[in-house]
Amino acid sequence: MITAGPTHEPIDPVRFIGNHSSGKMGYALAEVFANQGADVHLISGPVHIRAKNPNIRVTRVKTADEMNSVCIQELENSDIIILSAAVADFKPENIATEKIKKTDKNLTIQLTKTPDIAEGLGKLKKQGQVLAGFALETEHEVRNAIQKMERKNFDFIVLNSLKDTGAGFGFDTNKIRIINRSGKIFTYELKEKSEVAKDISRYIEANFHV
Ligand code: C5P
Repeated sequence: MITAGPTHEPIDPVRFIGNHSSGKMGYALAEVFANQGADVHLISGPVHIRAKNPNIRVTRVKTADEMNSVCIQELENSDIIILSAAVADFKPENIATEKIKKTDKNLTIQLTKTPDIAEGLGKLKKQGQVLAGFALETEHEVRNAIQKMERKNFDFIVLNSLKDTGAGFGFDTNKIRIINRSGKIFTYELKEKSEVAKDISRYIEANFHV
């Protein structure tokens, strides 16, 4: 099971809160695992790309709540779970039923927390299942990534830094470090996301019996 892309949190019937995640990393992971014969379930937020391999079953969702429900439902059928979606952390507390009218006054939208899908799955995870996620940090990268991995009960975390040119959101390339539960760090070169996905799949193959 792989999550990919952003989530869109509606404000009114025509507006939402979102982010610039392209979904490229998650879709690249889905292709690599499917090419190796895995039955891949890709849970995708709104993106402009399509899965190619017919072994990829795609469930399209819009909001963090929708992504959360599908992930929880599908968890028990999953051996490897990779969470690469850029899930919105907050959503509007109330969704206006009609388009919000423009006025001369400022507009305040009250936001409330979305579910942390990763943390929830980390609590439900059974022995033998491999759970991994991503971290995009701007400071104290390794320390924050390790804390995140422990809080979310990931078996490993993939750290990408916004400081590396060509890495992360929207780019076709990425530069990652994989950190495991013993705090060991594996550093990889900047490469195409399809190659990064292969590195992640090789890492799983070498370190877990799935
Ligand atoms: O806490 P942060 O958002 O930085 O954590 C990133 C990791 O957690 C990613 O693997 C992301 O897919 C996952 N995540 C999630 N649900 C959220 C927030 C993050 O699954 N609400």
